Amino acid sequence: MVADLKGLVDIDQGLLSRRIFIEPDIYQQEMEQIFARCWLFLCHETQIPKPGDYFTTYMGEDPVLVVRDSGGRINAFLNVCAHRGNKLCRAESGNAASFICAYHGWAYSNDGKLQAVPNLKDAYYDDLDQSKWGLTPVAQMDTYNGLIFATFDPDAPPLDDYLGDVKWYLDVFFNRREGGVEVIGGVHKWMAPCNWKLPADNFCGDGYHTGWSHLSAVQSGFGGDFRVKTASAGGKSVATGNGHCILTLGPDDPSDPAVPEILDYEESIAAEVRKRMGPRLDLVKPHVGTLFPNFSMLRSVARVFRVWHPRGPDKTEIWNWVFVDKAAPPEVKEAFRIVALRAFGPGGGFEQDDMDNWQECTQTARGVVSRRYMSNISMGLGHESYDHDLMGWVSDYRLTENNHRHFYDRWAQVMASDSWANL
Ligand code: FES
Ligand SMILES: [Fe+2]
Repeated sequence: MVADLKGLVDIDQGLLSRRIFIEPDIYQQEMEQIFARCWLFLCHETQIPKPGDYFTTYMGEDPVLVVRDSGGRINAFLNVCAHRGNKLCRAESGNAASFICAYHGWAYSNDGKLQAVPNLKDAYYDDLDQSKWGLTPVAQMDTYNGLIFATFDPDAPPLDDYLGDVKWYLDVFFNRREGGVEVIGGVHKWMAPCNWKLPADNFCGDGYHTGWSHLSAVQSGFGGDFRVKTASAGGKSVATGNGHCILTLGPDDPSDPAVPEILDYEESIAAEVRKRMGPRLDLVKPHVGTLFPNFSMLRSVARVFRVWHPRGPDKTEIWNWVFVDKAAPPEVKEAFRIVALRAFGPGGGFEQDDMDNWQECTQTARGVVSRRYMSNISMGLGHESYDHDLMGWVSDYRLTENNHRHFYDRWAQVMASDSWANL
């Protein structure tokens, strides 16, 4: 254990040390304790549908190659050449039967085996056991609703247990119609000068900022009118355990972008969705959320999910995908794509408001004096209870920092514990 974690997170009082957003020791411990152990999102199955399709990403700061091998099986490996550690595949995505390292030409098949080594006979005297020098696989990989996750920790609990009760909420996002969802367009990628936890906690359930930070985006009609109704409307924040958090709207609150194709589509499928998702949908309408640690999703204003890739204590590489129901007609998919581009992504009206705030919350923590003070996440403290119908710790009122407290409580537990048995 590198960093002394005492006093960084005080859930009972709703206090959070600003040191956790800037200090290198704490960041390194996050890499070890969180990103080398937790289940992390890789990509969606619809991004690699055919044998040989691949997608390159990161788990923490480790480069990872996700590839469907020629036999159709999905694998994930460190995207690192076993010879001298060069980054193996430099492309973002594509299709390949094999991957050849740019440095000395070691070649790997798309199932990770070392296939060919230049000068094997003369320079290695035919004395290199190729079976021992294939690509390094992740420890576990699994999927839920087409979302591919992996962990580097062989002792991590199965994905199903790790997700636990957040699965119904994931169904509402990604499996509300037969066939689930597909991702459309490419992946938006950009750097933000903020600590990765600030966007992750914002998507956990920061209903508080929407009517204020995004007022101009709302007033210019970016996302329909539901946000101005936020303060008086229904909805709860729900923490389902293991640090996973969802913010919901009331079941009848408007949530769809004010685009005719989308509104008509949503009306036409409402009965089907209600039947598929069951009576819980009469209680809440899931709206935005974060899976611990760094996968977030949103289905109001736009249908996007994203990963907050850590790039040092004060940098985050944001990757943003647009998703739609596979069964939606083409004009509806296109409407969702355009709405997403307008609201989110580097040029999105909402995104720019958010990034500015996350950036400044991070940058103020550079000051050694500013860093001595605690952030306040006490809103709604004591006004939450466990709700069996919603399968989580639920706030009495929708504007609350209930989910923030659950997220950072989990953060502190995972940072401090060396065994999953204690988590
Ligand atoms: S580092 Fe890849 S072949 Fe040498
Ligand atoms: Fe926001």
